[in-house]
Amino acid sequence: PTALAGRHFLKEADFTEEEFRGLVELAAELKAAKKAGAETRYLRGRNIALIFEKTSTRTRCAFEVAAADQGAHTTYLDPVGSQIGHKESVKDTARVLGRMYDAIEYRGDSQAKVEELAAYAGVPVYNGLTDDWHPTQMLADVLTMTEHSAKPLRKIAFAYLGDARFNMGNSYLVTGALLGMDVRIVAPKSYWPAQEIVDRARELAAASGARVTLTEDVAEGVLGADFVATDVWVSMGEPKEVWSERIAALAPYAVTMDVLRATGNPDVKFLHCLPAFHDLGTAVGRQIHEAHGLASLEVTDEVFESAHSVVFDEAENRLHTIKAVLVATLARESLA
Ligand code: CP
Ligand code: NVA
Repeated sequence: PTALAGRHFLKEADFTEEEFRGLVELAAELKAAKKAGAETRYLRGRNIALIFEKTSTRTRCAFEVAAADQGAHTTYLDPVGSQIGHKESVKDTARVLGRMYDAIEYRGDSQAKVEELAAYAGVPVYNGLTDDWHPTQMLADVLTMTEHSAKPLRKIAFAYLGDARFNMGNSYLVTGALLGMDVRIVAPKSYWPAQEIVDRARELAAASGARVTLTEDVAEGVLGADFVATDVWVSMGEPKEVWSERIAALAPYAVTMDVLRATGNPDVKFLHCLPAFHDLGTAVGRQIHEAHGLASLEVTDEVFESAHSVVFDEAENRLHTIKAVLVATLARESLA
């Protein structure tokens, strides 16, 4: 068993800097082993339940492929295919699934729900995204940053532009602070993370030596950044009525080539957890275009398709990092 055997993975701040970095390092090892065709199967015969109350492409596929690569089996419970929350309480669901499965992944709106599952399941529970945190995404982003920068993590600067009150903004702020990085949240003040999250990040930063900046000023926020990141302006579960207000408030924070140039770093890389609205290739993109005359929102197609963009490495890394969480918490034997 590993040092994280039996642990939940609910939010970044539940881990020490060493533990979090250890998961990223394990992911890099598992990635190399898979590429070399030399993967050891640590999860033979394990069963993992995947509860998705919200839709997903990357997270679901990463859990399924990671489990299959490692010899484990998964059951996908879709947003309408289970009783959870409607006919059966979270507490009862946790106790039922905990009798059948070795671990449970949960994606939905509420952090309280995934924490309640964890409290009653008796097996490791993983947060596959809530409104508050997206911790498996952070492992992928940190792995991607280490792959695309020659600097040690503690020397890397990254700026997140956009709506920072939700999962991605919160997670970037706390992860950067936990890992001793130079993290900047660049958004209108009313779109900054909640004060308690900022306070927690400052506490973590005091311990790790991180530099935490919140600013409304794009030029100041991105100067010297190694990575610029953004996310959709309207998240899953939000009503479409918020579009106009979001576009009005966040338009100056769209990631354009000018924003990348303002970093002063010709090698700056662009991150996005995806899905992204950068062209008219989706139904939602076409609706936005019709209603607001815009062909892209949080990132221009030019940036998205440029050599700065590492978004598909980031997407691939969801697989290797989620695999690391599964192996670290569920491995049958000590890692080689
Ligand atoms: N980035 C991410 O979580 O993607 P999915 O919503 O497709 O899982
Ligand atoms: N903030 C986005 C992230 C999607 C991976 C959402 O919650 O919809």
